Parts: sequence; C-alpha cells; structure tokens
Amino acid sequence: MKTIIEPFKIKSVEPIYFTTRNQRLDIIKKAHYNAFLIKAENVIIDLLTDSGTSAMSSAQWAGIMIGDESYAGSNSFFRFEKTINEITGMPIVIPTHQGRASEKILFAVLGGKGKYIVSNTLFDTTRANVEASGAEGIDLLCAEGKIPSVLAPFKGNIDIKALENFINEKGAENIPLCIITVTNNSGGGQPVSMQNIKDASRVCKKYNIPLYIDACRFAENSYFIKKREKGYENKTVREIAAEMFSYADGCTMSAKKDAFANIGGFIALHNEQLATQCRNLLIITEGFPTYGGLAGRDLEAIAIGLNEVLDEHYLQYRIRSTEYLSEKLAAAGVPVMQPSGGHAVYIDAKEMLPHIPVDKYPGQALVAALYVEGGIRGVEIGSLMFGKYDSNGKLIPAMMELVRLAIPRRVYTQSHIDYVAEVIIEMAKNREKIKGLEITYEAEALRHFTARLKEAN
Ligand code: F0G
Repeated sequence: MKTIIEPFKIKSVEPIYFTTRNQRLDIIKKAHYNAFLIKAENVIIDLLTDSGTSAMSSAQWAGIMIGDESYAGSNSFFRFEKTINEITGMPIVIPTHQGRASEKILFAVLGGKGKYIVSNTLFDTTRANVEASGAEGIDLLCAEGKIPSVLAPFKGNIDIKALENFINEKGAENIPLCIITVTNNSGGGQPVSMQNIKDASRVCKKYNIPLYIDACRFAENSYFIKKREKGYENKTVREIAAEMFSYADGCTMSAKKDAFANIGGFIALHNEQLATQCRNLLIITEGFPTYGGLAGRDLEAIAIGLNEVLDEHYLQYRIRSTEYLSEKLAAAGVPVMQPSGGHAVYIDAKEMLPHIPVDKYPGQALVAALYVEGGIRGVEIGSLMFGKYDSNGKLIPAMMELVRLAIPRRVYTQSHIDYVAEVIIEMAKNREKIKGLEITYEAEALRHFTARLKEAN
C-alpha cells in the first residue's frame, strides 16, 4: 500500500477553539507581534514547538499510575536508568527536569571563562547555558547546511576540517567538549550522518576532547541514517542509535522531544568523576539523583516513550508526515528548507519576503502573518532569536531567517496539516502585503521569548 497511515488510534481528544481573522488581528497586536505572548486557546494549530507537546500513549498513561514517588531509590528511576543504559550504552544516568537543566549542569562544570564549546549548531538554550558559564559557543556547521535550497542528505553535519582547525587555533586545553546536536534543530532539523559523528569522534579523541551528543531527536536522526546512509539500510533504528552513542563520551537529552514526554531530561555519561560533580550541582538545583527534578511518574512515562519512539512504523509516519507538508509547500513555490527536516518544516523567510530587510525581522513578520491568516503559530529561528548588536548598536543578523513549523508528535492528523498548507499557500500569494517589524522592548538573554514588536512604517 502507498498510503502511510498514522500508526495509532485516538482515545482521548482535546477541543480546538476557533477565532476569526479580525479577532486575530487584535490578538497579535496585543501580543506585541510575538507568538510566545499569545494565549494557547487563541491558537488553532499550534506548531510553536514539538517540545513537551506530544500525545502520550495509553501505555505511558498507564505508566503514570505505577510511578513510584519514593524520594530515594524509586523503582521508576531504575526502569528509567535501565532504558537509557540499554539505548545509549552509557552506564551513568542523571535525571533532570528538562534539556536545559542538563545543559546548565554540564556547562557549569565543564565551561567557564576562556573556554570554547564547539558544535555543529548549538540550540538557543544550549548556547545561552554555554554563555552563562562564561564560555563561548562556536557553531561549525558544514557548508551545505547554511544554504536552505541545497539538497543534501546530511545538512546537520559538523565541518570536520573547521573543527580540527579551530582546535589547533585555540588549543585543545581550552575546549572542554564538542557537542553534536542530532538532529540539528536550529539548522533546519537536518540530520547528522554516522560517518560525520565517527569523524568528529576521531578528531576529538586525537586531541583528548570529550564528544557529547545533544540527543533530543536521536531516533529521528537514526531513522534518517537508515534511509540515507549506505550500509545502514538493514540495521534497526535501535542498532543505529546504539552505534551513534558509542562514539560519544556522554549526552544530554530533553525527553520532551523523542521520548514523547511532557517534561523531563537527562545527562548520560561514562565518566564517574564528572558525574559526581554534576550530581553535586543536581542536588542543589534539581533534586536527589534518583529523581532529579521529576516525579516518579514522569520517569515512567519517559522510559516507556524512549522505547516507543524506536518503533519504525512510527518513525516512517513521523518523517513522512513532515515531508508531506514540506512537499506541498514547495510544490506551490513556497521557499522551504530542503530537504525536509525531521520534526519541522522551515520556511526561508528571507527568500519569501525579499521586501523586508533583515533588521525588520522577516521571519517574525511571517510568524505574525501566519497567525493572522490561519491561527497557526510557528516560531522565528532567525535574527530575533540569534541576532546580536555590534558596538554601534547595529544588528549582526543570524545566518538564516527561518520560520519553523514544528509538528507535535502524534497530535495532528493529515487534515490539520492540509489546512496549514492551504493557509500558507494562500498567504504566499499576497506576500508583498506583509510588513516588517521593529523591536520596542527586548531582554538581555533569549530575547525572542519576551520581545515586544510593532509594525514598521
Ligand atoms: N537541545 C535542542 C536541540 C533542543 O531543540 C532543545 C529544546 C533543547 C536542547 C532544550 O531542551 O526545552 O527541554 O530545555 N527545544 C525546544 C524547541 C524548546 O522548541 O525546539 P528543553
């Protein structure tokens, strides 16, 4: 059969509340053109993030009921730990309340002033945590990853030559770790190849630099390897994931993505001495090492979700359904990042709205227009998120101006996605009417969450 169906049935549903275009014009103005400031009930299709928004399975909900809430030595922790040991091959597991808590702890221990943390691309919270430690975050994305229209199988790869050059330039002693984000969220949800991870591991070993994986979407990345990399077509996704982790010294993960959980995360690693330092911080920030900021029931949901995500029927549906939206948009001439990412479709706002200069935030302007036209909430991954100022206060723009439409796992059906495509295609016909935006308020760090904007003249 050609049709790939959702590999689940729906047992419990949530209502969608509808708004009119006029209501949404008012709502976006009151939300200062920032989609993070819109109430969720005023959103028709919420593609803000795939993080913490998954529909849990009946098995996960059943797991919630058997969660062991003991402060110390909870059974649920041991199931959580065993699942992560089995998938990653890493013996030490430290639970945290979400990905950024893992990052905060790891970089507080390993980072610091004068240090560089290198990556294919650091996610925004990851970069913020690197910088909060005093260290500098360095993105060394491969060349093809920087051009949205280029078709290449592994556009999330780290540039191996640039990595080695950077190590030689700054000195290995100043680089406490290299972290590879799979899939590369800020670079378009693009996968990283096994060969690239292997090569990065070889370079890191040569200079004695630990290699970490930001494993938020490890299963999606493993599935891409199975489909796109020679020699992996007959391996199971579980085997591929195990090989991927075997090249790393440790990983951080937000369980809000590929573990289908609404909250949670962990650090997994081999180094006992480093684990002790991490646990010392964990206890004062997150909690005791057998729950680390989570309830026992969350640990159960995550353990079950981590096994469910490796189901290849699910991954086939997942990757194909993202591709489906991307193909529809591309066929109608909407410039989307090629090929389609795992968890999201990325619209190239610079290309779509050439009349809006980067300092008028074309990505954010597109986010606002998407909301007004169809009640769809996406997120800008461009200069509002990553822009900096030079010493004269002039914007240093981000590498790309993207709008991400992240697809929550197991939440929306094909007709929801058809609606999204229809809205965007209609909107693209009147794209020259979309106006640029100006910032009226911004915070010092992670400004996109709280920034206020207005329409530029
Ligand atoms: N690393 C990556 C690659 C991520 O995508 C995220 C979160 C994190 C780390 C942090 O995890 O949210 O659990 O603290 N990404 C979300 C997103 C927020 O919308 O892409 P967290």
